[in-house]
Amino acid sequence: MIEREKVEEIKRQTDIVAVVGQYVQLKKMGRNYRGLCPFHSEKNPSFYVSPEKGIFYCFGCKKGGNAINFLMEYEKLDFPDAVKRLAKNLGIEIDTTKGLRYKELYEVNEQACQFYAKCLNEAIGRRGKDYLTRRKLSIDKIKSFRLGYAPASGGLVTYLRQKGFSIDRLRQAGLISTSREIFRDRLIFPILNMSGRIIGFGGRGIDDYIQPKYLNSPETAIFKKGECLYGLYQSKDQVRAKGEVLLVEGYFDLLSVYQHGFDNICAPLGTSLTEQQAMLLSRFAKKVFILFDGDLSGIKAALRAIGLLINAQVDVHVASLPEDSDPDNFINQNGADALRELLGGAVDFFHFYKRVVKTDTLEQEIALIKDLIQIIAKIQDPIRYDRYLKYVARVFGIETEVLQKEITQKVKEPMKVSRNIKISQEEKLMAMILNGWEHFSLVKKHLHPDDFKEGGVKRLFKKLEKEDGFDVANLSELVEENLREKLLSIVMREDPVSKESLIEAIMTHKGRVQKDRLMKKISDAVERGDEAARQQYYKELDTLKRQLLKIGVEKATNIEI
Ligand code: CTP
Ligand code: MN
Repeated sequence: MIEREKVEEIKRQTDIVAVVGQYVQLKKMGRNYRGLCPFHSEKNPSFYVSPEKGIFYCFGCKKGGNAINFLMEYEKLDFPDAVKRLAKNLGIEIDTTKGLRYKELYEVNEQACQFYAKCLNEAIGRRGKDYLTRRKLSIDKIKSFRLGYAPASGGLVTYLRQKGFSIDRLRQAGLISTSREIFRDRLIFPILNMSGRIIGFGGRGIDDYIQPKYLNSPETAIFKKGECLYGLYQSKDQVRAKGEVLLVEGYFDLLSVYQHGFDNICAPLGTSLTEQQAMLLSRFAKKVFILFDGDLSGIKAALRAIGLLINAQVDVHVASLPEDSDPDNFINQNGADALRELLGGAVDFFHFYKRVVKTDTLEQEIALIKDLIQIIAKIQDPIRYDRYLKYVARVFGIETEVLQKEITQKVKEPMKVSRNIKISQEEKLMAMILNGWEHFSLVKKHLHPDDFKEGGVKRLFKKLEKEDGFDVANLSELVEENLREKLLSIVMREDPVSKESLIEAIMTHKGRVQKDRLMKKISDAVERGDEAARQQYYKELDTLKRQLLKIGVEKATNIEI
């Protein structure tokens, strides 16, 4: 771990507006800054940064946190790397040799990768080598992909145990299930994150009858399939330089095409493209060439991907392969020039839709027009938006105004922004406590963890009791995601709280808690038939009511006591 004090110091010195401002155009709005959220697609800004509190929060997609969280999310860095990045900006030196949060998981994966690579090179990996030859892959040309082979007889566990890793660690890294090695007699494709660390593996059965044909590591703390793109780490510099990227479906498609010189390429991991992957890709390239299998499932996958990519504001083109072909066998049969030609003939999403979607009937045509409008409505670039709208109008013989009306009525926003969060009384109180942190010693005097019924709030309160200083920006480390979202959304909206309003809120809450306790006691007494107890509790309830009235709680909050 990077020492806690160092992290604190870095956080204190970091200006979150400057950090976020490198990626997002921010405008000052009162005490906060506002801009378009980089984590979801939106036209009206709902992304806020508070320089005082050191946090960002998006009211649309609910992502929020401090500067470190921002870099982790945006740059796909892990915690230590994000901290290092901030430190570098500030000119602070940090020593990370002491171990990082997920370091051991990365390490065990790295060692596993080396084991598989070693096997591929030795006699035991003969089957793997032969398979690569059969598939026409040249190890030399694709060295950076670090392929390997998992022997049928296993051996990974022994190897890693000797290196000092525990069985538990192997399990956490998704390399074994119970104690059996997951990958056997498979060609291994290590999956790298954007820092070049190995986060998981894909494996292709050497025997074609092996089920499943492809197997990926299970999701782990560091491996989220929907969030990474295979090959992007290796090709990112080229992708950036060219501003264009080829998107293929499979491992072999990628490697075959890559070794023929198309080095700006990546692939989703065995699932259809996700929103996160589209966003990730859009940070590297402004133009995507979809090059999926020529069969029906490839076409369907392309139609789905188009929407997500347009949403991420990239220009999408689709190249069509012959029906029984995929990029891997296409390039092996026809060569690089043929593929170049095919890419040259790639059509934009509009023409692709028009070509592949059946429109024999009027209804089918209407459905197609509506689909296209959905997509076009998301284009933010006014020129492209206008051009496509006119396209649709011309091709289908509709007035542009009619389309425009359809868009404003049905399609436009507010999308996710309408997802309201329900916030409980206890959560509200907790947000007030956080906002009025300088009065916490007072809060501690009056409130006890048991005054909270909700587990998350109670746990947070206990942690806060132990802290001697608190910063809203640290919230991420103290609470679980769901509660953090809610608290941040209130904290971001509200001004610092005064001592008086805090006390009032606490008293109200205490009154409510005590009332609940007494009511419970009363109903228990009734159940037992204990009339004396019942009367006693009623008396207490009465006293409580009077006490609370005296401090004006009832009046202030209108609670019934
Ligand atoms: N895939 C997967 N699980 C499967 C099948 C496929 O995860 N059971 C993923 C793999 O990433 C694979 C991609 O989907 O590379 C494309 O699958 P498919 O088109 O079926 O295979 P090919 O790429 O043609 O594989 P191969 O050429 O090795 O037969
Ligand atoms: Mn194939």
